[in-house]
Amino acid sequence: MTTKTQAFPTDFQWGAATAAFQIEGGSTADGRGDSIWDRFCREPGRIANGDDATVATDHYHRWPQDLDLARDMNLTAYRFSVAWPRILPSAGGRVNEKGLAFYDRLVDGMLERGLAPFLTLYHWDLPQYLQDQGGWQHRDTVDHFVDFAQVVGRRLGDRVASIATFNEPSVTALAGYLIGIFPPGRRDMQASLDVTHHQLLAHGRALRALRADGLKAPLGIVCNMGPVHPASHSEADLQAAARHDLLINRLYLEPLLDGRYPERTQELLQARPQLREGDMAEIATPMDFLGVNYYSRFVVDSTAPAPLLAAAPPPGAQLTDGGKEVYHAGLPELLLDTRRRHANLPPIHITESGCAWNDAVVEGRVDDGFRVAYLQGQIAALGQALAAGVDVRGYFVWSLLDNFEWSLGYAKRFGLVHVDYSTLERTVKASGHWYAAFIAQQRSA
Ligand code: FCB
Repeated sequence: MTTKTQAFPTDFQWGAATAAFQIEGGSTADGRGDSIWDRFCREPGRIANGDDATVATDHYHRWPQDLDLARDMNLTAYRFSVAWPRILPSAGGRVNEKGLAFYDRLVDGMLERGLAPFLTLYHWDLPQYLQDQGGWQHRDTVDHFVDFAQVVGRRLGDRVASIATFNEPSVTALAGYLIGIFPPGRRDMQASLDVTHHQLLAHGRALRALRADGLKAPLGIVCNMGPVHPASHSEADLQAAARHDLLINRLYLEPLLDGRYPERTQELLQARPQLREGDMAEIATPMDFLGVNYYSRFVVDSTAPAPLLAAAPPPGAQLTDGGKEVYHAGLPELLLDTRRRHANLPPIHITESGCAWNDAVVEGRVDDGFRVAYLQGQIAALGQALAAGVDVRGYFVWSLLDNFEWSLGYAKRFGLVHVDYSTLERTVKASGHWYAAFIAQQRSA
């Protein structure tokens, strides 16, 4: 533990993360409208086991208990997202006061428990009426997002510790529009690039609007990233790895930080973003922080069945229950490489880090030793990045609670807290107890 104690400054944030759609339930409570995920869940065959999130963990009603769990785990910060369809449930722009009031209570509840509120505006739950008008493919969605950001910023901006505009815009673009496993289930490279561009533009424009409103909280975005390694040195693998790196990492960081799309975009994707004058300057509006979600590296094998995103764990790798390779060394590699690529890199928060494991409650306990070891490995690796001088300010475990894991339904558990989906009972796992003790030790160091 000595190296960890030395590595992390005393004001380092230790948190856990969630997302509205994955935990809240209450899908029609207090005037909430449909999101694209409610609609997607109703389409047969889309979600494992036919699961949906109408109840999820029922956090909408049980949030005081959940925030108590976060406080008792010694967390200093809590990352959550605001459900756009609770705030602006229908076309026409009428604000749903009851929806806003929920987040008002939630933020106050965090502050009362000593949890710094890290707010994410968009964690994938676009209102369905906006999808019906074209969703992120349509440029008008940019200004709808800015309106939503301002409504939330004006109400909660005085009390939150930070606001991230988007969670993992690449997942919306790739899973939603290139691979088709997330709503709206499309497979079209040009559409995917348009969706990337409109999310980035919405991010930059929202930053400007929030600052013009006088908001003082640090503003940024959350990207999922990982180092990309070719499976071999064959020309085909090198080319596939370059394309993967572009689709996952560069297509976001270069516009956001350098104000331009990567040079090889057209060559590697046979498509290019459709820009209008001034877009790139808006996208590159300076950010106060970058949120990085790190799960694993990407080993790219051009002979794999899905040629566009051909990443698979190498043979013999240790895997999580989600099929991801345990690869802690990728975290410092990613952070150091990103800092090398971008001289103007803002301070970083690791906004998600965690693993799926096949947890079970046995005699009232969940012994997820795999997750404890995983988190220890991630945190030790993060310590190496700090020791090498990367400016990282916080670390958030994904997730506080087991929850609705998108297309995988409830089958995959990521929580520090186990949720029994038939009784909704919460049980702190061994990993939750370990994290509490670890944070206590860090704070007393
Ligand atoms: C991330 C998502 C988060 C959760 C984890 C496992 O990509 O941001 O909502 O699904 O993966």
